[in-house]
Amino acid sequence: MRNVCAGRARTVFESSERRASLAWSAGSPRSLPESAILGLVTVGKRSEQQRLLEESYELALLRDPDFPRLFYDILFRKHPSTRALFKSNSLNAQRTMLSRTLVAAIDHLQDDAWLAEHLTPLGKDHVRYGVTPEMYEWVGDALVDSIAEVCEADWTDAHAAAWRAAYQRITQVMRRDVG
Ligand code: HEM
Repeated sequence: MRNVCAGRARTVFESSERRASLAWSAGSPRSLPESAILGLVTVGKRSEQQRLLEESYELALLRDPDFPRLFYDILFRKHPSTRALFKSNSLNAQRTMLSRTLVAAIDHLQDDAWLAEHLTPLGKDHVRYGVTPEMYEWVGDALVDSIAEVCEADWTDAHAAAWRAAYQRITQVMRRDVG
C-alpha cells in the first residue's frame, strides 16, 4: 500500500475503535445477532492476513462507500443466472448483509467455533436459496475483482492471496454440512 489513501485506511484500522467508523449501513443479517456485530470493535490481536483483508476492505470503502454494488454488478454481468436467485431482499439490504457478514467473519477467521456457529447455518440457508457449489467460485471471483478494482494500484498480490484464503475458509465452513 503506497499512497495517502492507504495511509488513511491503515490509520483507521490501527485505531482501537477502528471498525466503529466503518461505513456500514443500519441493520444486521438475520443470521448474525447484533452482539456478534458489536464484537467487531473489541477484537484485539490480528494476523497479517486479517490486516491485509481489513486495510483493503477499508480502502475500498473509503474510495467508494457503495462499492459492494460493484460486486453484484460484476456477478450479474458475468453470471446472469444468479440474478433470479435474489428474490426476497432488496439489493441494498443484501449488500449490507453480505458486507457485515464478511467483516464479522474476517474478524473471527481464527475462531472455529464462531465460524461454525454463524456460517454453517448460513450455508444451509443458501442451499434453500438455490445456490450451487460452482456459484461460490463465481461469487469469490466477483468479490476479489470488485475490491481489486476499487483499490486500483494499491492492490497487491498479498491482498489477493489473503482474500482468496479467507473466502475459501468462509466457504468451507458454509458448505460443511451440505457437501
Ligand atoms: C462468502 C460467502 C457468502 C456470504 C458471507 C453470504 C452472505 C449472505 C447473507 C448474510 C445473506 C442474508 C440472508 C441470510 O442471512 O440467509 C445472504 C443471502 C443470499 N445469498 Fe449469500 N452469501 C455468500 C455466498 C453466496 C453465493 C455464492 C451466492 C450465489 C449466488 C449467494 C446468494 C444469496 C442469495 C440468493 C440470498 C438470498 C437473497 C434473497 O432472498 O433475496 N450467496 N447471503
